[in-house]
Amino acid sequence: MANPFEQPVTTGALDPTANPFRPGMGRVPPDFGGREPALRRAKHVVDQLTRGQAPPAVLYRGVRGVGKTALLAYVRQQARSRGLLTIHLEADRGDADLTASRETLLRDGAALLDGPGSTEVPLAVLERRSGHVVARSAGSPQATFERAVGDLAALAGAAGRGVLLTVDEVHEAEETLLKPLLRAAHRTAQDDLPIGVLLSGLPAAAETLFDEGQTYTERLERVELGLLDRDGTAEAIRSPFAREVGAEVDEFVIDAVQDGSGGYPWFVQLWGAALWDLAGDPTRVRLEDARAAGVEVHERVEAFFVDRWRRVPSGRATRLVVTLAELGGEAEMSEVTTALDLTHQALSPARREVVDRGLAWAPGRGRLAFTVPGFADWVRRTRPDEGGVPG
Ligand SMILES: Nc1ncnc2c1ncn2[C@@H]1O[C@H](COP(=O)(O)OP(=O)(O)O)[C@@H](O)[C@H]1O
Ligand SMILES: [Mg+2]
Repeated sequence: MANPFEQPVTTGALDPTANPFRPGMGRVPPDFGGREPALRRAKHVVDQLTRGQAPPAVLYRGVRGVGKTALLAYVRQQARSRGLLTIHLEADRGDADLTASRETLLRDGAALLDGPGSTEVPLAVLERRSGHVVARSAGSPQATFERAVGDLAALAGAAGRGVLLTVDEVHEAEETLLKPLLRAAHRTAQDDLPIGVLLSGLPAAAETLFDEGQTYTERLERVELGLLDRDGTAEAIRSPFAREVGAEVDEFVIDAVQDGSGGYPWFVQLWGAALWDLAGDPTRVRLEDARAAGVEVHERVEAFFVDRWRRVPSGRATRLVVTLAELGGEAEMSEVTTALDLTHQALSPARREVVDRGLAWAPGRGRLAFTVPGFADWVRRTRPDEGGVPG
């Protein structure tokens, strides 16, 4: 047997340890396919902050796996490399009194209290206490949080250093976290302070706030992130091969990836990673490589679907999922209720459960669709409700 330390075991022509693709939640891909408009919005925010101006707040929305977390992480990297201070929060419905969010905010923003001019800035709630920064209560956790953001913005203005605040999964805490944050951002923008807010969440995130017509949503731009079209997929696959090893990728390969992944970014990364590991020629990725990669990706995706299925609550939600699969994976709710012979009202708790668990979403009023391409086919093929999947 060969010693793998002396003779690396490789199946393909490219070094697997140099594989640039990043399948996995929240991982920054080597190239963002099809996201030029989304990245342009973020760049605008970063550019304004580096000039000391107040940018608009941006909310990226999309189903799980389209690249929201990765996009925020990438923009933070870019912001830091331009000298901005970055603060990252993840909304959590368990953090109702905002303890965790406030602690992160203060920890990551603490540097501003040492910044130039900081001692001249009148602060509403922040203060130094035995070496670290605390926020005095402003009455409620929300009010305290809102003022703390305002204080950080004032310090940023005094120091002449822009701050980028990113918040992921905002749908988890719209009332508790998002509202005070947007109110604070609205105020700091009026004062032209250099604090920028990039948010992300599921497709319906903040929709009630927009519906209520709150003034602080006026300056909140919505950017919807969807599945990649063929050009987007081609960019995400081709650019890393070209940049890293100067390899070309055949059109047939791009067709196979687009067909197999449905343009779902997480699957596109899986495809890219498998193509890299299996490519037989270091200068050109061919259809035969795509066939081999397809087998590997298929196994990973099946395992992922089994895992998703286990998240389907039993009872009506199961019947709802199977019916939606039979209807092709996207349908009018009225078609679903007719097929199940149930009223909207009777089905609505089950609908909410599958949406809350990220299995389905509403691509339009009164419509329901699975969030991941291929899931409907998988349900029809394996009939997991009839025991097709080992529990
Ligand atoms: N535009 C893109 N092109 C290709 N791959 C992407 C793109 N955006 C994200 N990805 C990849 O998709 C996967 C899911 O990204 P993630 O940020 O976790 O999604 P979300 O936060 O929306 O659930 C990751 O592997 C990431 O590298
Ligand atoms: Mg995410």
